[in-house]
Amino acid sequence: MSQRLFEDANQAFHYSRARPSPPANLITQSINYLNEKILPNSNSKWQLAIDVGAGTGQCTRLLQPYFEKIIGFDVSEAQVNEANKGNSFLNVHYAISEAESLPLPDDSVDLLTACQCLHWFDMQAFFKEAQRVLKTDGVLAVIGHDVPKLYSTDKQELPLTNLLYDTFHGDILKPYIQSDRLELLHNGYKDIEFPFAQVSRENVHTDLKTTAEDCIELIKSWSNFQSCVQNDHSTAMALINDLQQAFISHFNQESLSKIEMIARRNYALILCRK
Ligand SMILES: C[S@@+](CC[C@H](N)C(=O)[O-])C[C@H]1O[C@@H](n2cnc3c(N)ncnc32)[C@H](O)[C@@H]1O
Repeated sequence: MSQRLFEDANQAFHYSRARPSPPANLITQSINYLNEKILPNSNSKWQLAIDVGAGTGQCTRLLQPYFEKIIGFDVSEAQVNEANKGNSFLNVHYAISEAESLPLPDDSVDLLTACQCLHWFDMQAFFKEAQRVLKTDGVLAVIGHDVPKLYSTDKQELPLTNLLYDTFHGDILKPYIQSDRLELLHNGYKDIEFPFAQVSRENVHTDLKTTAEDCIELIKSWSNFQSCVQNDHSTAMALINDLQQAFISHFNQESLSKIEMIARRNYALILCRK
């Protein structure tokens, strides 16, 4: 069974502000892997890429330079609406669809990406659907990252290094983690078997500048935080207030947007060839 957790327009708004695009080199690696067996057209572009569980388009838009047409599919209308608001590319489109049942013909897709979402799908149904829509030698690229750790801007550990991780798994939000699927993600999908002829796995980490304000936005984009808001609004707001105070007192700075740090994410990239 797939999961429905990103249906709320408010969450889609926080999502589009808070979630990073995957590192561009993971996309170029996926393109290079595709290029090993399928060459682009005479205009140096491949025909069709699709990004499933596209959210608000974090990964979808990175595919724009390489394909004649890119479609980001998401099951949530709110996410698709938010993605459309931020889309200015003529060759990028967004549409509502389950990843397990795509409105595309057999053997039609060069590259299929699934970023930060595989764990929400009915995986066996999705793998079957990926095999159906991919061209021979087409590539499924699965990308996922863990909860970021926080470092000082010169990359030293902080007393707050594990703050996001501890909040995610802490007493308040833990009851709202709606499945053990997130463990699969946070383990870099290493426990998942990908039923494809050729599979290549890689792990990289990225360091991105962030602020305490960004961190609060990120927490607000989490599905477990949004569930907490719906079930126990005052506890969710108190959690945000406590986190804000933790940043303010550690950095002795009242303005969250002026508290700068590094967010380190560990990414897994799994490339599967049909
Ligand atoms: C954590 S978000 C990832 C969004 C984006 N790909 C990113 O990298 O930030 C997961 C997304 O998967 C979508 N989703 C969950 N189950 C789905 C399914 N079965 N088919 C399509 N989309 C699904 C959710 O609506 C949500 O937008």
